[in-house]
Order: sequence, then structure tokens, then C-alpha cells
Amino acid sequence: MEYKNIRNFVIIAHIDHGKSTLADRFLELTHAISPTKLKPQYLDRLNLEREHGITIKMHPVRMLFQNQAGLKYIFNLIDTPGHVDFTYEVSRSLAAVEGAILLVDGTQGIQAQTLSNLFLAQQQHLRIIGAINKIDLDIANLEERRNELARLLHKDEKEIVLVSAKTGKNVDLLLEKVIEKIPFPSFIPDAPLRALVFDSVYNDYKGVIAYVRIRDGVIRKGDKIFFMASKVTAEANSLGYFRPQLEEKEMLSSGEIGWVATGLKDPHLVRVGDTITTAKIQDEKLTIEPLPGYKEPKPMVFASFYLGGEKDFDKLRLALNKLKLTDSALQFSPENSEVLGRGYRLGFLGMLHLKITQERLEKNYGLDLIVTNPTVPYKVWLKSKQLPLIVTNPSTWPVVDDIEQVEEPWAQVEVITPSEYLANIIKLIHQMRGKDINPSNIGNRLLIRCQLPLEEAIKDFYDTLKSVSQGYASMNYQLDKYQKVELEKLEVLLIGKEFPSLARLVLRKEAETEARNLAQNLKILIPRQAYALPIQIKGGGRILARETISALRKDVTAHLYGGDRTRKMKLWKKQKKGKKRLKQQAHLKLPPDVFLKLFSHN
Ligand code: GTP
Repeated sequence: MEYKNIRNFVIIAHIDHGKSTLADRFLELTHAISPTKLKPQYLDRLNLEREHGITIKMHPVRMLFQNQAGLKYIFNLIDTPGHVDFTYEVSRSLAAVEGAILLVDGTQGIQAQTLSNLFLAQQQHLRIIGAINKIDLDIANLEERRNELARLLHKDEKEIVLVSAKTGKNVDLLLEKVIEKIPFPSFIPDAPLRALVFDSVYNDYKGVIAYVRIRDGVIRKGDKIFFMASKVTAEANSLGYFRPQLEEKEMLSSGEIGWVATGLKDPHLVRVGDTITTAKIQDEKLTIEPLPGYKEPKPMVFASFYLGGEKDFDKLRLALNKLKLTDSALQFSPENSEVLGRGYRLGFLGMLHLKITQERLEKNYGLDLIVTNPTVPYKVWLKSKQLPLIVTNPSTWPVVDDIEQVEEPWAQVEVITPSEYLANIIKLIHQMRGKDINPSNIGNRLLIRCQLPLEEAIKDFYDTLKSVSQGYASMNYQLDKYQKVELEKLEVLLIGKEFPSLARLVLRKEAETEARNLAQNLKILIPRQAYALPIQIKGGGRILARETISALRKDVTAHLYGGDRTRKMKLWKKQKKGKKRLKQQAHLKLPPDVFLKLFSHN
């Protein structure tokens, strides 16, 4: 089919506004899936996506459509996630297409991720079609919502399509709009191959399968291909389209979206954002400009994953490497803990990303994980060094005397809310150390911009925001500059010995309260031993809190009845000595679940 009949597009929206359901209707209308096989949110194929009812991964699909005028079109649709933690998936899909449907739930109106995803699409210069969804529901202010969206997109109200992804109403009109408004792909005629790798998966038989958008040229089955960034040559063993399952073809041409099985067994060799070209460029000394790739996503939350022992460490390593292929935002490096053995320090884009990664590892790879307290990355300026250190783990905090200044990351936060919750939300922002609060109108609601420490933005702000606005407010955040902060590292000493993996970073002004809480929590959580176990929390060079777990007293004199006092004394003395020895030599083993409970205690 002619490239002029191809339309490559994505659906973008705030979480739960109906992207995957709309994709179902497209699949139905284009007969891509037989009605008997079509389950709701068909493209959400991961078990976890189905369980949580959210999209985590992007999902490409190629559909054939005949419009009312009898003309045939090819649609390459990429369904994208809505949650802010998976924005990297969205931005990668956007670079592979020419247009986007911006879908807004009519009962909710524009929300925080509507704005952030729109912004991403505009940065990529995509053509945008606005649509209001869920019109089968009784939406009292539908016209207002439509007007709001039209103004946001600087379009006439008539341009906004009203649809119901549930009943299918007007979905065909939306596809006609896609044909009319989204341009067909452009390319340089007769140019050598350039294909953007926008995702990849690992297949035990086929090796790494790269998801590609062909910008210029063609790839044929059996062609020798070259990855420009990783400088690896491979063979296009097989290739084809997403239907959405992999369908084999002989060739992929300019403007098309498809997959290429590379046979490469090392997942690291295929990087998203790389450009595939023909291996001939090396022989013929052609100069080819690589396509603009992607900015490496910056992890914003770090936590360690352990198994509570040496066993299965290799399983964890393998699982992480495989997961990395389908989740290019995931970062990890090995580390050791005195209590938990070998594990990994992982970097995530947010708390949901952390939670989903943990679940994927546990459910798909049968691992039983211990996850440590998440922290944001801190910038530490040292007296002895010119460049700052980025510290992502309290246990690697530099020596206090050498620290010149500490900075923490801040976030630029956007909240959209009905105006009656303004006072509550401002109070919350102040409680969370926020500043620069700037409310403005968006339709009859408010858009509140403010600055928050990233730590607060990702950990507590979202949940509390939902509760103070009865669930109506939505938020989005973006990493902003680092700003100075007064922090104290709390170290945990048990029987005088430091346990680095229990250390944590807290605000200096809260150090004493936090130290007391930590000592009390540890006292509850650590099982009693045969000896008294002192807990000390050290911060800023002094002991800030202490507790003692009393010994499990075994009455060694119980069997001696009668009054042989000297024998009893002798035994007590012996026991005391034994205890001391025990204490001195103590290789205290903390049960791994202390970590789990300690962090869920906070
Ligand atoms: P994420 O992928 O998690 O961002 O969600 P999504 O945008 O893909 O939303 P999804 O399609 O999963 O729909 C969210 C909920 O809205 C589901 O319960 C759908 O059944 C419901 N829904 C979607 N479209 C409509 C619609 O047109 N009308 C009604 N009544 N419900 C809808």
C-alpha cells in the first residue's frame, strides 16, 4: 500500500481516561482482532496491567481500515501508559509517530497528566486531535469540557470529537479525523536505511527483538544491519508487523512501524533510541546521520532489593537483566549488605515504578524480595573535592567533617483541582515544605503550580492530596533544580556495632524525633536475644536516642531448690560472664523481615 495511506499515531491521556478501551474499539472497527478474542483493554497484555487496570508498557498495533469513501488505510497505533512514572514510555512512542489523539474523560475534564502529555507531544511537533470520552455517561457540563479542551489546543470547538470508547459511539468519526488531520509519514527518497529503535523485548528463540520505526529506506529479511550507537552488526533474521502479535513479512519500508528479530543474545547491545542502518555503510564508507535518540531517563527514587540470603542471587541478576529490556528506564548496580547479603541498588522514575518492578520480579520470576527504604538522590559538595557526589544510598554518605553543603532535588508540581479545595491544598503544600505557589484558572477549576522537595512530591504528597480533595485533584511533577538542605544521617548501632543498611537521612531539625522513633521501632521489631541488646541512634557525632531490648532470661537456677546460696551465686557469675562473652563476640543476625517492617512502620 502507498505510504500516503499510512497514519502513525498514539493515544495520550491522563490515567484511566479510557485510552486502552478506545484502542479496543479501534481493533474492533478495523477487524484486527476477532470479536470472540477481544477482551477489554486488549492491548494491556501484561498480567500486572490487567490486575492493576493500568497500562505500564507501550503497545504497538497495525490495523487496516476502509473509510466511508472506500479508501484503504494503514494505522499504526501505539497505546501508551498514563501514569507519570511511565512518561518515558510515552515520550519514546511519541518519537515514532506523526500524530496523537489527546483523550479527556468528560466526567473529569483536563487533568494533570493531560497537560504533561500534551506538552510532550507538542515538543515532538505532533499533530494533535482532541477528543472527549465517556459521553455515554451523564455529563452535565459536557459543552464546558469541550470548550476547555478546544481552548487548550487552540482549536475550534467543532474540532473536538465527542466519543464513547465503551459503546463505540463516534469512534469511526475519530478515525476519519486521524486520516484527515494526521500527516502521512515523510522520508528521504532513495536514502539508506535509518530506523529508530523505540522499544525491545527478549525472546528465547529469536534473541533481542527491536521495535522500530523506519524513517528512510527499507529493511529486508536477511539484511545485515548495523546499530549506530552500540556499533554492533546483526542480521535481520525475521521481521514484520504488530497485529498485535508478531506477524512475519519480507520487508519493512519507510514510514512503517514493525519489529526486527536480531538474533542477538546480549540484551545490552540493543539500546532504545539507537538508529539501525545497513551494515553496508561501513564497507561503502557512507556517512549517515543517526536519528535523534532519547534522553536517558533520570531515576528519581532509589531502593535496594535483597533476597535475604545468598541463595537465588543469580536468579535476581538474570531477572533484572531481562526486565531491563522491556523497561529501559530501570537502572541497577550490585551492592552488599551486612545483614541481607548480596543484592542490587535500583533506580526508579517514581514510587509506582518501584512497586510495579517489585511485583514483576516477584510474580514473573518467583523471587521473594526485601526492599529497603526508598530515597531520592542527594548532591553532596565536599571540602576535599571540586565536583559534587551524587549519593543515592545513606550507607555511602561521606564523612561529616568533609561535607561542605548538601542539596536535595526539588520538583515543579502541577495540581488541577476544583476550586473549593484550594485552601486545603495550600495548607498541604506548606506542610510538605513547598513554596512558590501559583494558582491560575483552567476552565472553572484551578491549576496550582508550586515547588516541592522531590522526596515529598513522590512519597506522601500524592496520597494526601487525594484525601484532602476527596479524590478530585490530580498532580504531575517534573524534576527541577537541586536546593540546599540541612540533613543528618542517623546511624544505627546495635551492641555498639554499626549497621550501615539501617542508616537513614533525615532533616536536621527533625533528627532527634526521628532518632527516637527509629530506636523505639527497632526495639519492637528486633527479637529478644539471650543477652540485653542496646540500640543507639547516632547523628551529628552524638547519640540521639537509645533503647535496650532486655535479655531473654533463662533461669539457670531453677533446678536448684533448697538453699545452696553459694552454688547459686557461682552459677549466676558464670552466666554473667557467658553473657558478656556472647555480647562481645556477638555476630548479631537480624531477621530480614526487620527491614520490611521497619520501613512499613514509618
Ligand atoms: P491507563 O492505561 O491506566 O492510563 O488507563 P486507560 O486510559 O487506558 O483507561 P482504560 O481504557 O483502562 O479505562 C479506564 C476505565 O474507564 C475502565 O473502567 C473503562 O471501562 C472505563 N471507560 C473507558 N472508556 C469509557 C467510556 O467511554 N464510557 C464509560 N462509561 N466508561 C469508559
